[in-house]
Amino acid sequence: MKILLIGSGGREHALAWKMAQSPSVQKVYVAPGNGGTALAKNKIDGIENIALRDLQDLADFAKREKIHLTVVGPEAPLAQGIVDVFRNQGLRIFGPSQLAAQLESSKDFAKSFMKRHQIPTAEYRTFSNALEAHEYIELKGAPIVIKADGLAAGKGVVVAMNLTEAHAAVEMMLSDNQLGDAGARVVIEEFLEGEEASFIVLVDGKHVLALATSQDHKRLLDGDLGPNTGGMGAYSPAPVVSPEIHAKVLREIIMPTVQGMATDGIPYTGFLYAGLMIHPSGQVKTLEFNCRMGDPETQPIMARLKSDLVFALNQAVDGKLNEVELEWDRRIALGVVIASANYPNTPKLGDIIHGLPSSVVSDDGEQMVFHAGTQLIDGKIVTSGGRVLCVIGLSGTLRGAQQKAYDLIQQIQFNGMQYRNDIGHRALK
Ligand code: AMP
Ligand code: GLY
Repeated sequence: MKILLIGSGGREHALAWKMAQSPSVQKVYVAPGNGGTALAKNKIDGIENIALRDLQDLADFAKREKIHLTVVGPEAPLAQGIVDVFRNQGLRIFGPSQLAAQLESSKDFAKSFMKRHQIPTAEYRTFSNALEAHEYIELKGAPIVIKADGLAAGKGVVVAMNLTEAHAAVEMMLSDNQLGDAGARVVIEEFLEGEEASFIVLVDGKHVLALATSQDHKRLLDGDLGPNTGGMGAYSPAPVVSPEIHAKVLREIIMPTVQGMATDGIPYTGFLYAGLMIHPSGQVKTLEFNCRMGDPETQPIMARLKSDLVFALNQAVDGKLNEVELEWDRRIALGVVIASANYPNTPKLGDIIHGLPSSVVSDDGEQMVFHAGTQLIDGKIVTSGGRVLCVIGLSGTLRGAQQKAYDLIQQIQFNGMQYRNDIGHRALK
C-alpha cells in the first residue's frame, strides 16, 4: 500500500523511516518532506518527497495515487481542517477533525473542556480585555502563566516569575496585538511546579493505545536556561512516569478526554499528546494538549518502536485500536537536536552539513540521525530551518545513550551549529 505523510520536520523523517519498514508498505510519500526524506537511497527504501502543501492538491494526489492512508504530522493542517477535507472525499486519514483539533488550536477550548469534564489542570480564567487581565494578575500574584489562546508557534506562553513580566505579557498579547488573532484572547493560569513529561497516545474515537513515554527539553541552553524552543532534545522512556503515574494518567486524563470529546459530539481520532506536570507528591495535571506527535519526542520514540506502525495506524482508522499491542526496544533512546545559529529567532540557513553518516541507522544499531530543517540541493545536504538534525543514541543506560549521541555529533559539522550538552540531565538525577 501507499502512504501519504504530511510535514517536513524531524518528526516526519522518523515517522517516514518507520512506516517504510512496514512489510505492507510499497511507498511513503512525504509532503513536502526534507533533505533526509529526499536522499536518493530513500527512493530505494520507498520514501519520496512531493512538493504539495495545498489541502485540496493533497487530496487530489491521494486519489490519483490511490493512497491507502494519509497521516498528518504538524498541527497547522489539522487546524485548517485537512482531516475534514479528506474524509468528505472518502479518503482514509489519521488525525483529528478541525473541531477536535481545537484541543490544541484553542487554549480556551482545551481549558473549558477540561474543567467541564473534571480533567486535572491548572486553575485559570480567559480574558480579551486587558484591564480585567491586569486586575486578575494583581489578585493572583506571581509566578503566573499567560497563554495566547491560538496557535503561536511556541511563542504564545509566558511563564511570568514576577508581576512586571506578567503585565508585560498581557500588554504584548492583548494591547499591542503582537501575536495577532492568536493573542486576541489569553488564558491566565496558575503556575504549576513539578517535572514535565510527554504522554502520547493513538486514539480511534473510542480506544486508546499509549506510545512509549518521553521527556523533552524546551529551553535553548544547558541547565534549562534561555528562551523556549520547539524542543532541543528528548529521550524515551521518561523515568518520572512510573507504572503508577502511567495508570493514573490514562485513568484521570486520557480516557476522560476521549470519552468527554465523544460525549460532546466531537469524537477524537488521531495522535493525542498530553503535556503533563508531575508534582513530587504524585499529583498529575495537564499543561496542554497537542493533536499530533511531539517533535523531537517522536524521534526517540520511533527509534524504540519494534512493532509495525502502519498496522497500528490502519487499525486506528478502522476503530480497532483495542486489537493492537506495541512492542518496544528496552534500550533508552536519547536524541539531541542540532540547531542553526540564531535559533529560535531568525535562524541562519543555507550552510552545507559535513560529516553526516550515509544511513539513518549505524551498522551497530546504536546511533541514528533524523533530519529536520535540511534540504537536498545538488547532491548536498544544506541547512534550511531552525532545528536541523536530531542525533540519537541507544543504550541500556541513559549515560550510554547520551555518550552514543554525543559521540556521533562530534563527526557532524556546519557553520554556527548549536546544541545542548546536557540532554537527559533530569533523568540522570
Ligand atoms: P504549553 O505550550 O502550554 O505546554 O506551555 C509551554 C511550556 O510552558 C510548558 O512546557 C511548560 O514548561 C510551561 N508551562 C505552561 N503552563 C505552565 C503552568 N501552568 N505552570 C508552569 N509552567 C507552565
Ligand atoms: N516538543 C514539544 C512539542 O512537540 O510540542
